[in-house]
Amino acid sequence: MKSFKSIPGTFDILPEGHTSGGDLIAPVALWQHVEQVVRRVMAGYGAQEIRTPILEPTELVARGVGQLTDIVSKEMFAFERGSTNYVLRPEVTAPVMRSYLQHHLEQKGGVQKLYYIGPCFRAERPQKGRYRQFHQFGLEVIGASDARADAETIACAADIYQALGINDYRLRINSLGDENSRPRYKEALIAFLKPLEDELSEVSRGRLESNPLRILDTKNEKERQLLSDAPILIDFIDDESRAHYEAVKAHLTAIGIAFEEDPFLVRGLDYYSRTSFEFESDVLGAQGALAGGGRYDLLSTEVGSKKVVPAVGFAAGMERLLMTMHEAGLAALEESRLDVFMVGLGDAAADWIFPTAHRLRALGLTVGYDLKGRSMKAQMREANRRNARRVVVVGDDELENEIAQVKDMDQSEQHPVPFGELEQMLQP
Ligand code: HAM
Repeated sequence: MKSFKSIPGTFDILPEGHTSGGDLIAPVALWQHVEQVVRRVMAGYGAQEIRTPILEPTELVARGVGQLTDIVSKEMFAFERGSTNYVLRPEVTAPVMRSYLQHHLEQKGGVQKLYYIGPCFRAERPQKGRYRQFHQFGLEVIGASDARADAETIACAADIYQALGINDYRLRINSLGDENSRPRYKEALIAFLKPLEDELSEVSRGRLESNPLRILDTKNEKERQLLSDAPILIDFIDDESRAHYEAVKAHLTAIGIAFEEDPFLVRGLDYYSRTSFEFESDVLGAQGALAGGGRYDLLSTEVGSKKVVPAVGFAAGMERLLMTMHEAGLAALEESRLDVFMVGLGDAAADWIFPTAHRLRALGLTVGYDLKGRSMKAQMREANRRNARRVVVVGDDELENEIAQVKDMDQSEQHPVPFGELEQMLQP
C-alpha cells in the first residue's frame, strides 16, 4: 500500500516537538503561547484581528506585490478553475488592503489597525527557515501618513520580540522615497553597474536589466565590495520623504528603539514607498530575516482604489521566531497537565467512569481516562505520562461501596471519597 508524507517545505505541528526535514518543529503549546503574546501586544496598540481567505484572486497579488518580484514571477501557488485564477496567498498585506477597500473600512473614520496570524504559501526551495507553507503574524496600519504610524508599527514588532525575551536581533531601516525616486535611482544604479558588468555574478548580470535593485541584496563578498561605491537611494529621494524619514528616526529614538540605517535595504516587494525596515536575527544564519515591512502608500491605487490610502505595516515569520527562541534557550514550556485521570478495572468501572468524566468536564476540569481496556498498571502509567494532578481509582470494591480512591499525585497521598462528594472535592 502507498503511504503518504507531508509535502517537502510543509510540516505538521504536533502536541510534542519533533523534527521535520532536519528542522525542529516546536510543540503546539509553544505556537499557542507566541500567538497569545502577539494578540496581547497587538491589543495594546489598539489593533483588531482580521481574517482574510487563504485563496485570493491571482491578479490581486500580481498587481499588489509586483509582476517582477520573485514572489510573483516564480513563487506563487496559482491555479485556474473555470475562468477564475486563484492563488494561495504568499503574504497578507495585499489581501488586507483588498478587504479594507471592499468593505469601505475608511468610512469608519480614523485609522484602521488590523492584525493577523496565519499561513502563507511560497514555492521556494525548502531549506532551514524557508518553507513552502509558513506562518506570518503582522500588523497593517491603514489610513495614516504620519511618521508616528511608521515608528509605532516598528515598535509593535519590537515589543512582541521583547515580550518573548528575544533581544538578539538588529533592526535596519531605510527610506525608498516616493514613486519617482526609485526609477531615478534605478537609472543611476544601472549606469554605475554597467561598466562593471563583467565582474558581476551570472545571477546579478541577469538582474541588471530586469530588477537591478535586487543586486543590492547580494551576499557575494566581491559584489559587496563593488557596491561600496555605488550610489545610494537616500540621495535620490524627494524632500518630503526625507523629512518623513527624519521624523521616523526621531520617533524611534524617542522611545528607545535602536536601529541601523541601511542604504541598500530595498525589500523584495514592489508596493513600498518611504520607510522600509527589517528585523534580522543574529542566530538564524542564512535565512536571518525575522520580520520586514514598511510604508506602502502606492498599494491601494495599484489594487483598484481611486484615492491613495496611506498605510504602513509589518509581517513576521512564526517559524523563524520559534527557531530563534529555541537557539536562545527561550523555548521551555510549563508542562501541560490534566486535572484528573480516571483509572478503572473492569466493564462496570468503565461504565461508571464514562458519565462521571463527562460531568467533571462540565465543571471545567480537564479529564482523561483509558479508552483501550488496559491494565491498572498501564492506566497509572498513562496518568503519569499526562502529568495528572489527581488520579481517581475505581475497582469492584469501590463500586460496591460507592467510594472512590483519590490520589493526589503531587503529595503522593490517597484518600477515600464517597461518589456523592467527588464533584465537590475535585471542583477547580
Ligand atoms: P516578507 O519580507 O516577504 O514581507 O515576509 C515577512 C517575513 O515572513 C519574513 O521576514 C520571514 O520571517 C517570513 N517569511 C517569508 N517567506 C518565508 C518562507 N518561505 N519561509 C519562512 N518564513 C518566511 C511581507 O510578507 C510583507 N507583507 C510585510 C509587510 C506587511 N509589509 C507591510 N506590511
